[in-house]
Amino acid sequence: MPRVMIVYASLTGNTQAGAEILTDAFLELGAEVETVQSYVADPFEYQNADIVIAGSYTYGIGGELPDEILDFYEELEEVDLTGKIYGVFGSGDVFYEDLFCVAVDYFEQQFEKTGAIKGADGIKYNLYPDEKAENDLYAFAKELFDQYKDKH
Ligand SMILES: Cc1cc2nc3c(=O)[nH]c(=O)nc-3n(C[C@H](O)[C@H](O)[C@H](O)COP(=O)(O)O)c2cc1C
Repeated sequence: MPRVMIVYASLTGNTQAGAEILTDAFLELGAEVETVQSYVADPFEYQNADIVIAGSYTYGIGGELPDEILDFYEELEEVDLTGKIYGVFGSGDVFYEDLFCVAVDYFEQQFEKTGAIKGADGIKYNLYPDEKAENDLYAFAKELFDQYKDKH
Protein backbone atom coordinates (compact mmCIF):
# COMPACT_ATOMS: atom_id res chain seq x y z
CA MET A 1 0.00 0.00 0.00
CA PRO A 2 1.33 3.46 -0.83
CA ARG A 3 2.58 5.90 1.75
CA VAL A 4 1.16 9.37 1.20
CA MET A 5 2.58 12.61 2.54
CA ILE A 6 0.46 15.76 2.40
CA VAL A 7 2.08 19.12 3.23
CA TYR A 8 -0.15 22.17 3.29
CA ALA A 9 -0.40 25.83 4.23
CA SER A 10 -3.71 27.30 5.37
CA LEU A 11 -4.44 30.61 7.06
CA THR A 12 -8.23 30.53 7.44
CA GLY A 13 -8.83 26.78 7.13
CA ASN A 14 -9.97 26.38 3.53
CA THR A 15 -6.86 24.56 2.34
CA GLN A 16 -6.75 22.64 5.59
CA ALA A 17 -10.29 21.39 4.87
CA GLY A 18 -9.01 20.10 1.52
CA ALA A 19 -6.08 18.39 3.24
CA GLU A 20 -8.53 16.69 5.62
CA ILE A 21 -10.76 15.50 2.77
CA LEU A 22 -7.71 14.06 1.00
CA THR A 23 -6.51 12.40 4.19
CA ASP A 24 -9.88 10.67 4.58
CA ALA A 25 -9.97 9.72 0.91
CA PHE A 26 -6.53 8.08 1.03
CA LEU A 27 -7.30 6.30 4.30
CA GLU A 28 -10.48 4.91 2.74
CA LEU A 29 -8.40 3.66 -0.18
CA GLY A 30 -6.15 1.85 2.29
CA ALA A 31 -3.08 4.09 2.06
CA GLU A 32 -0.89 5.21 4.92
CA VAL A 33 -1.14 8.99 5.26
CA GLU A 34 0.92 11.64 6.99
CA THR A 35 -0.51 15.18 6.88
CA VAL A 36 1.59 18.10 8.10
CA GLN A 37 1.56 21.87 8.04
CA SER A 38 4.23 23.49 5.89
CA TYR A 39 6.06 25.36 8.63
CA VAL A 40 7.00 22.12 10.39
CA ALA A 41 7.62 20.12 7.21
CA ASP A 42 10.88 19.37 5.46
CA PRO A 43 10.67 18.51 1.75
CA PHE A 44 13.31 15.79 2.22
CA GLU A 45 10.66 13.86 4.20
CA TYR A 46 8.86 13.34 0.89
CA GLN A 47 11.59 10.81 0.13
CA ASN A 48 9.92 8.42 2.60
CA ALA A 49 6.60 8.53 0.75
CA ASP A 50 5.31 7.14 -2.56
CA ILE A 51 2.69 9.79 -3.29
CA VAL A 52 3.71 13.36 -2.42
CA ILE A 53 1.15 16.14 -2.19
CA ALA A 54 1.38 19.87 -1.57
CA GLY A 55 -1.58 22.14 -0.78
CA SER A 56 -1.39 25.91 -0.74
CA TYR A 57 -3.68 28.87 -0.84
CA THR A 58 -2.58 31.95 -2.83
CA TYR A 59 -1.75 35.23 -1.15
CA GLY A 60 0.00 38.57 -1.48
CA ILE A 61 -0.09 41.21 -4.16
CA GLY A 62 -0.05 39.64 -7.57
CA GLY A 63 -0.62 36.00 -6.66
CA GLU A 64 2.08 34.77 -4.32
CA LEU A 65 2.88 31.79 -2.18
CA PRO A 66 2.22 32.27 1.54
CA ASP A 67 5.28 33.05 3.67
CA GLU A 68 4.90 29.90 5.73
CA ILE A 69 5.41 27.64 2.72
CA LEU A 70 8.20 29.59 0.96
CA ASP A 71 11.16 27.80 2.59
CA PHE A 72 9.52 24.46 1.87
CA TYR A 73 8.89 25.50 -1.73
CA GLU A 74 12.44 26.73 -2.29
CA GLU A 75 14.05 23.62 -0.79
CA LEU A 76 11.78 21.30 -2.74
CA GLU A 77 13.76 21.75 -5.95
CA GLU A 78 16.84 20.33 -4.18
CA VAL A 79 15.10 17.04 -3.42
CA ASP A 80 15.33 14.01 -5.70
CA LEU A 81 11.82 12.55 -5.95
CA THR A 82 12.46 10.27 -8.90
CA GLY A 83 9.92 7.45 -8.92
CA LYS A 84 7.38 9.34 -6.80
CA ILE A 85 3.95 10.51 -7.89
CA TYR A 86 2.97 14.07 -7.09
CA GLY A 87 -0.22 16.11 -6.96
CA VAL A 88 -1.06 19.67 -5.92
CA PHE A 89 -4.24 21.29 -4.61
CA GLY A 90 -5.22 24.62 -3.14
CA SER A 91 -7.95 27.04 -2.26
CA GLY A 92 -8.20 30.51 -3.72
CA ASP A 93 -10.81 33.11 -4.47
CA VAL A 94 -12.32 33.50 -7.95
CA PHE A 95 -12.38 37.24 -7.26
CA TYR A 96 -8.68 37.21 -8.24
CA GLU A 97 -9.56 36.04 -11.77
CA ASP A 98 -6.30 35.37 -13.67
CA LEU A 99 -4.48 34.87 -10.39
CA PHE A 100 -6.97 32.31 -9.11
CA CYS A 101 -5.07 29.59 -7.24
CA VAL A 102 -1.77 30.29 -9.01
CA ALA A 103 0.08 28.75 -6.03
CA VAL A 104 -1.05 25.39 -7.43
CA ASP A 105 0.70 26.14 -10.73
CA TYR A 106 3.86 27.28 -8.92
CA PHE A 107 4.03 24.03 -6.99
CA GLU A 108 3.53 21.94 -10.08
CA GLN A 109 6.44 23.77 -11.73
CA GLN A 110 8.59 23.11 -8.67
CA PHE A 111 7.70 19.41 -8.52
CA GLU A 112 8.68 19.10 -12.18
CA LYS A 113 12.28 19.84 -11.10
CA THR A 114 12.34 16.92 -8.63
CA GLY A 115 11.90 14.01 -11.03
CA ALA A 116 8.47 13.17 -9.59
CA ILE A 117 5.69 12.39 -12.06
CA LYS A 118 2.42 14.28 -12.03
CA GLY A 119 -0.25 11.72 -11.17
CA ALA A 120 -3.33 13.93 -11.52
CA ASP A 121 -4.19 17.46 -12.59
CA GLY A 122 -4.03 19.97 -9.77
CA ILE A 123 -7.23 20.78 -7.91
CA LYS A 124 -8.19 24.44 -7.51
CA TYR A 125 -11.29 25.36 -5.55
CA ASN A 126 -12.98 28.54 -4.41
CA LEU A 127 -12.77 29.27 -0.65
CA TYR A 128 -14.14 26.41 1.50
CA PRO A 129 -14.51 23.17 -0.46
CA ASP A 130 -18.11 22.72 -1.63
CA GLU A 131 -19.58 19.40 -2.70
CA LYS A 132 -18.03 19.59 -6.16
CA ALA A 133 -14.61 20.38 -4.72
CA GLU A 134 -14.99 17.51 -2.30
CA ASN A 135 -15.83 15.14 -5.15
CA ASP A 136 -12.91 16.48 -7.18
CA LEU A 137 -10.57 15.91 -4.24
CA TYR A 138 -11.81 12.32 -3.84
CA ALA A 139 -11.29 11.72 -7.56
CA PHE A 140 -7.82 13.29 -7.34
CA ALA A 141 -6.86 10.93 -4.49
CA LYS A 142 -8.19 7.93 -6.43
CA GLU A 143 -6.27 8.91 -9.56
CA LEU A 144 -3.00 9.29 -7.66
CA PHE A 145 -3.64 6.01 -5.86
CA ASP A 146 -4.37 4.17 -9.12
CA GLN A 147 -1.22 5.57 -10.73
CA TYR A 148 0.77 4.07 -7.90
CA LYS A 149 -1.04 0.72 -8.17
CA ASP A 150 -0.41 0.53 -11.90
CA LYS A 151 3.32 0.67 -11.21
CA HIS A 152 3.48 -1.69 -8.23
C1 LIG B 1 -4.16 39.55 0.79
C2 LIG B 1 -4.79 38.41 0.08
C3 LIG B 1 -4.39 38.08 -1.21
C4 LIG B 1 -4.97 37.04 -1.91
N1 LIG B 1 -4.56 36.76 -3.20
C5 LIG B 1 -5.15 35.75 -3.88
C6 LIG B 1 -4.78 35.46 -5.21
O1 LIG B 1 -3.91 36.09 -5.81
N2 LIG B 1 -5.39 34.43 -5.85
C7 LIG B 1 -6.37 33.67 -5.25
O2 LIG B 1 -6.90 32.77 -5.87
N3 LIG B 1 -6.76 33.94 -3.98
C8 LIG B 1 -6.17 34.95 -3.28
N4 LIG B 1 -6.56 35.21 -2.00
C9 LIG B 1 -7.66 34.43 -1.41
C10 LIG B 1 -7.20 33.22 -0.57
O3 LIG B 1 -6.32 32.40 -1.28
C11 LIG B 1 -8.46 32.45 -0.20
O4 LIG B 1 -9.18 33.20 0.76
C12 LIG B 1 -8.19 31.05 0.34
O5 LIG B 1 -9.41 30.36 0.49
C13 LIG B 1 -7.47 31.05 1.68
O6 LIG B 1 -7.17 29.72 2.01
P1 LIG B 1 -6.97 29.25 3.51
O7 LIG B 1 -8.31 29.31 4.21
O8 LIG B 1 -6.46 27.85 3.42
O9 LIG B 1 -6.00 30.17 4.17
C14 LIG B 1 -5.98 36.26 -1.28
C15 LIG B 1 -6.38 36.56 0.02
C16 LIG B 1 -5.81 37.62 0.70
C17 LIG B 1 -6.28 37.93 2.11
